[in-house]
Amino acid sequence: MTKSLTIARPDDWHLHLRDGAMLQAVLPETARHFGRAIIMPNLVPPVVTHAQAVAYHDRIMAALPSDMTFEPLMTLYLTENTDPDDVAAAHAAGLVKAVKLYPAGATTNSSSGVTNFDKIKPVLAKMAEIGLPLCTHGEVTDHSVDIFDREAVFIDRVLDPIRRENPELKVVMEHITTTTAVDYVKSQDKNLGATITTHHLIINRNHILAGGIKPHYYCLPVAKREEHRIALRAAATSGDARFFLGTDSAPHVDAAKETGCGCAGCFTATNTMALLAHVFEEDGALDKLEGFASKHGPAFYGLPVNRDSLTLVKSDTATSFPEKLTSGDGPVTVFDPGFPIYWDVT
Ligand code: NCD
Ligand code: ZN
Repeated sequence: MTKSLTIARPDDWHLHLRDGAMLQAVLPETARHFGRAIIMPNLVPPVVTHAQAVAYHDRIMAALPSDMTFEPLMTLYLTENTDPDDVAAAHAAGLVKAVKLYPAGATTNSSSGVTNFDKIKPVLAKMAEIGLPLCTHGEVTDHSVDIFDREAVFIDRVLDPIRRENPELKVVMEHITTTTAVDYVKSQDKNLGATITTHHLIINRNHILAGGIKPHYYCLPVAKREEHRIALRAAATSGDARFFLGTDSAPHVDAAKETGCGCAGCFTATNTMALLAHVFEEDGALDKLEGFASKHGPAFYGLPVNRDSLTLVKSDTATSFPEKLTSGDGPVTVFDPGFPIYWDVT
C-alpha cells in the first residue's frame, strides 16, 4: 500500500547551520526539503551586527550546491551592547528577520548572551516599534533552578515581564518543551508564537537517561516527562497557527557528544519531514502537517507561503536513513527515532 501527501514546501523556523566544513556538510540536508530557515546566530564569535549577518548570509549562499534553492533568514544575536539603530538598519535592509535572545550561559555558545535584562530594554522597544520579532531561548540559567524547571521559571521571571512591557513586540518561544509553555502560548491573544522541534515530539527524558545515557538525545532545553511530550504533540497536531516547526537541528561531531561533558543538540535535518509525517499520521492529523511545517510560520513572520511543494510517500518497507553524516570536521550522528519509519520525501 502506498500513501502520499503533497504539501507546500516547508520552512524551518529554528536551525543551526554552523560555519566552514560543518556548514558545507549540513546545508544540503536542510535545503533538500526546506525552502527557508531562520538561521541561528550562535557561532563563535556570534553574529551580533548587521555586517556580520550579511557576511554569514554570503558564506551560506556560497556553500549552497548550485542545483538547490534555499533562502536563509538571518538573525542577530542579542547582547547587552546591541545597538538598536544597527538592528533597525538590519531589518530595513530586509536581510534580518529576527533577533535571538540567549540568557548568558543557557546553551551552546551563549556566553555573550544577556544577564541583565534591563540593558536590552531600548532594543526591545525599537523592535516592537519596527515589527521585528524576538526569538527566545526560554530557560533561566540560575543554578538554584532545577534544569527541568528552567523553561517554566523563564516564562514567569523573564518572558512575561518583557511581553507586558512591550505588548506590540512579536515573540517566538523557541523549542518549547513543557505543558506550561503550551498553556502560556494558548492563554495569549496576540504577538506570541512557539516553535516545536521534531525530537521533542518523539522523545521524553527516559530516552536520554534510562537504560544507559544516550548523548545523541541530549539537547537543550532537555526533553521532559512523557506528559509534556504528549502536550507538545497535541499542540503541534492541533492546527493552532501559533505553533510551528523549528527543528533546532544542531549538529555536533560525535567526538563532542560522546565524551565526559557532551554538547547539547540533536541533528534532525536529514529525516525531519519523514519523522513528522509518521508523528502526524500516528495522531490522525496528517491533514495538519502542512499548517505546522509550511503555513503557520510564514503567517507569523508575515512572509508568503512557498510556491513549490514537497511530496511525502509511505511504503511497506521501512525507510533507511543514513546513521551518520560525514563532515570535514568529523561524523555527525543523525537523530534516530528508535522505531521504523515508513515515510520518505520523494
Ligand atoms: C543548540 C546548539 O548546539 O547550538 N543546542 C541545542 O541543544 N539545542 C543551541 C540551542 O538552540 O539551545
Ligand atoms: Zn537551537
